[in-house]
Amino acid sequence: MQIITLLAATASLTTSSTAAPTGTSSGKDTAEYRWQVTGWSAGCARSGCYYDFNVTGPEDGNIPCFQAYCSGDDVGYFKQCEILSGSSTSSIPSVAAELDHYNTSTADGIAAMAVSLSFVDADSGARYNYTGHHNATYNQFAAPLESFKIKPDSATAVL
Ligand SMILES: *[C@@H]1O[C@H](CO)[C@@H](O)[C@H](O)[C@H]1NC(C)=O
Ligand SMILES: *[C@@H]1O[C@H](CO)[C@@H](O)[C@H](O)[C@H]1NC(C)=O
Ligand SMILES: *[C@@H]1O[C@H](CO)[C@@H](O)[C@H](O)[C@H]1NC(C)=O
Ligand SMILES: *[C@@H]1O[C@H](CO)[C@@H](O)[C@H](O)[C@H]1NC(C)=O
Repeated sequence: MQIITLLAATASLTTSSTAAPTGTSSGKDTAEYRWQVTGWSAGCARSGCYYDFNVTGPEDGNIPCFQAYCSGDDVGYFKQCEILSGSSTSSIPSVAAELDHYNTSTADGIAAMAVSLSFVDADSGARYNYTGHHNATYNQFAAPLESFKIKPDSATAVL
């Protein structure tokens, strides 16, 4: 098994304003590529923290579109989301989410989260994994449901 980190893709995916976009291996400009999170809610109780949201992604080059519902009640590792609908032309993508703990105190109200999309490219047979992070909030008591966009910051391919 060969694991390739898509440096070109990663460079174009990072939010860095210093790096000139180099494009992906497919030549597709992913500068505008984003995932849309809606209905975000998260909170912590004595038993632990939980999250609940929907996430959608558009089709972009070889990246399939998807719609998924993610929920979990633990911190620190990815849990599979439920695919609500996906691209019909590619293999069904797989979506996972996690809550990170940069700071195990939740007193600052920041819910660091990550979403990851995995799919098999029909042409090359390679499995791609795109991951993006966002600092959302623990909004269960204070605020309405949140919406935000995530820009994937890493991409890997496994042949
Ligand atoms: C997620 O989307 C589904 C289907 O559109 C909807 O029924 C559900 O209420 C949404 N959930 C959240 C948390 O937004
Ligand atoms: C993507 O890769 C990360 C790190 O290896 C893994 O934890 C995650 O589960 C993968 N995502 C999917 C959707 O398989
Ligand atoms: C974690 O967050 C709390 C509340 O904001 C803060 O007082 C504490 O210093 C933070 N700890 C670290 C290691 O960042
Ligand atoms: C979230 O906040 C942590 C701690 O301040 C920071 O290290 C991290 O880069 C932030 N992540 C994002 C995606 O902004």
